[in-house]
Amino acid sequence: IGTGTKPETKMPVYPASFPAARPRRLRATAALRNLTRENELSVNDLIWPVFVRDGEGVEEPVMSMPGVLRRSVDKVVEAAVEAHNLGIPAICLFPYTDPSLKTEECAEAWNPDNLCNRAIRGIKKAVPELAVMTDVALDPYNINGHDGFVIEGEIRNDETVEALVKMTLAQAEAGADIIGPSDMMDGRVGAMRNALEQKGFRNVSILSYSAKYASGFYGPFRDAVGASGALKGDKKTYQMDAGNSNEAMRMIARDLDEGADMVMIKPGLAYLDICHRVKTEFGVPTFAYQVSGEYAMIQAAAQNGWINGEQVMLESLMAFRRAGCDGVLTYFAPDVARILNG
Ligand code: PBG
Repeated sequence: IGTGTKPETKMPVYPASFPAARPRRLRATAALRNLTRENELSVNDLIWPVFVRDGEGVEEPVMSMPGVLRRSVDKVVEAAVEAHNLGIPAICLFPYTDPSLKTEECAEAWNPDNLCNRAIRGIKKAVPELAVMTDVALDPYNINGHDGFVIEGEIRNDETVEALVKMTLAQAEAGADIIGPSDMMDGRVGAMRNALEQKGFRNVSILSYSAKYASGFYGPFRDAVGASGALKGDKKTYQMDAGNSNEAMRMIARDLDEGADMVMIKPGLAYLDICHRVKTEFGVPTFAYQVSGEYAMIQAAAQNGWINGEQVMLESLMAFRRAGCDGVLTYFAPDVARILNG
């Protein structure tokens, strides 16, 4: 190479099996590609996260998440019906709480008539077949933006768990099907499971945010729920360090032991190795959360014409399936469903 002379060899150096093995044969037509694809993305794999706000007839765009809306309860119910008609099995609710309702005590979190609980009731009435998932953490209701109580400058674990149990029961009472603890306090899954059992909510399942990392990818979400301004400091004393992998396995084992029915890894794309390890080591229902920052990056690049948004959306979701995830929480859910439904 680079000398201008041709190599001496007469016989071309092909892999020994050529031409018997021509992998391109199976890529030659759409029919063969479809026939031999190892993993599929289906509408059944989608959980759609939705933001709820107060008012009526309101749909307000979230600036940092192009295409995502904050909806009033009536509009969330409409969106839920649409999701169900698209075949999406589950929706996940996140409240945008009015700043006046945020306090240090976070009592709005277990108010039976808070935004989230009103939305659950509305959805279960209009479309009972759709699974409703909730988020359990204090941050939307906390004046300082943290997922737990801040007492004397410290995020207090056990006091927070008590509050999370009250929040869980209020959501179950409202009709939630899946409880999603996203707070990362120790012992919360066991406490929630016991409380749910005691109060007769035997079939309310827990999808635990088991391996949730302290991540920069949550930026646009905190904007969407109005927590970015409020948050003092970071969440590193309770969310996981990006350098850790074995710790994630311990978190999964612990949450399963405490009664989690399903587990989640969050964020998604930057933690695909964790997804793969979890599925291989535990074989339990495993979900990834393609978080706000992942969504925003794809949308921003697509809007600039730098990538093909639709292709990258589908490719990123297929990556979760390939890594072993049973499903994905994604803001793209309705868009994907429309494409998959043809
Ligand atoms: C809060 C919570 C967060 C997300 C879901 N629940 C943010 C955080 O931990 O600060 C992030 C979701 C996203 O970025 O899309 N308990």
